[in-house]
Amino acid sequence: MKQSLCAITSNVEISPGIHLMWLEAPDIAAIAQPGQFITVRCEGLALRRPFSIHQVVIASEAKQSQVAILFKVVGKGTLWLSQHQRGDKVDILGLLGNGFSVGPSSRNLLLVAGGIGIAPLVFLARSASPQHAITLIYGASTAKELYPFSSLPLTLNPSPSKGEGKGEGEKRSNLLSLPDSVRFIPVTEDGSIGKKGMVTDILPDFLGWAEQVYACGPIDMYKTMANMSLRAKRSNLKVRMCQVSLEVRMGCGIGACYGCTINTRKGLKKVCHDGPVFELDDILWEEVSI
Ligand SMILES: Cc1cc2nc3c(=O)[nH]c(=O)nc-3n(C[C@H](O)[C@H](O)[C@H](O)COP(=O)(O)OP(=O)(O)OC[C@H]3O[C@@H](n4cnc5c(N)ncnc54)[C@H](O)[C@@H]3O)c2cc1C
Ligand code: FES
Repeated sequence: MKQSLCAITSNVEISPGIHLMWLEAPDIAAIAQPGQFITVRCEGLALRRPFSIHQVVIASEAKQSQVAILFKVVGKGTLWLSQHQRGDKVDILGLLGNGFSVGPSSRNLLLVAGGIGIAPLVFLARSASPQHAITLIYGASTAKELYPFSSLPLTLNPSPSKGEGKGEGEKRSNLLSLPDSVRFIPVTEDGSIGKKGMVTDILPDFLGWAEQVYACGPIDMYKTMANMSLRAKRSNLKVRMCQVSLEVRMGCGIGACYGCTINTRKGLKKVCHDGPVFELDDILWEEVSI
């Protein structure tokens, strides 16, 4: 774990209130695993704010390697961060936490994202592909809140090309594409794109196919998934291993304050130090609040 001042290479609002920020952070880029996170010091706030690693690019010149975070503006810290531009520097602490793990014999991976929970799962999809068959179910309330995946290649240099407006150039060159091998299933509550409903409505259709399930999203999504798992166990059905990333409020982010402690079937755990990724069935969901 290291504290460093990292230069922002790009900060683009890719959909209303959602920012994709690329940072020059070679030490973190070199070792980051999907599901791990960093914390950012936001001016005027005592507590650093945690963000999952959304993507990593290793440059041929190592010191230019970058990481991306994808964040939703919800309060003072994220608003402050959203107002920063290319060239500004932010104080980062990382790498933190334990990420997702993929079993050596698992081939079919089901990824389940709710809203901004897409952030760490894009990294997982890109690093587990093409060795694994991946289905990504991704839900939001409406089409314009879905991450606008691009089919354009990922570039390290977000400079606009000649004749192109700066904003558009930055936006185009920084969006990520999903590998062709990823089966992408959008779900919206209003049916404006993809299936209508919640991700948990269609999840059961894929459980027979998946060997492992990975999820990141709101607590209600996890609670519904935990109930599904419980019902399946009671009916003696085979239950897929499911790992979830828990985005509880944090204090120190480094295991020192106990502010993120949750109760699990394996005892008390600190989300920042023992997680943020846990087995769905290990968590005592009735005791978790965010
Ligand atoms: C391990 C981890 C990874 C995370 N990754 C991401 C990410 O990739 N992208 C992203 O947008 N956010 C992520 N979050 C949540 C993010 O840290 C919070 O949204 C952020 O700290 C809010 O800071 P703020 O000062 O803007 O809002 P605050 O003023 O602190 O809070 C504003 C509102 O947001 C709610 N809120 C604050 N923190 C959380 C939280 N952790 N979970 C749910 N609601 C919260 C508050 O209850 C309040 O209603 C992650 C959290 C954790 C613990
Ligand atoms: S946030 Fe301090 S111990 Fe986890």
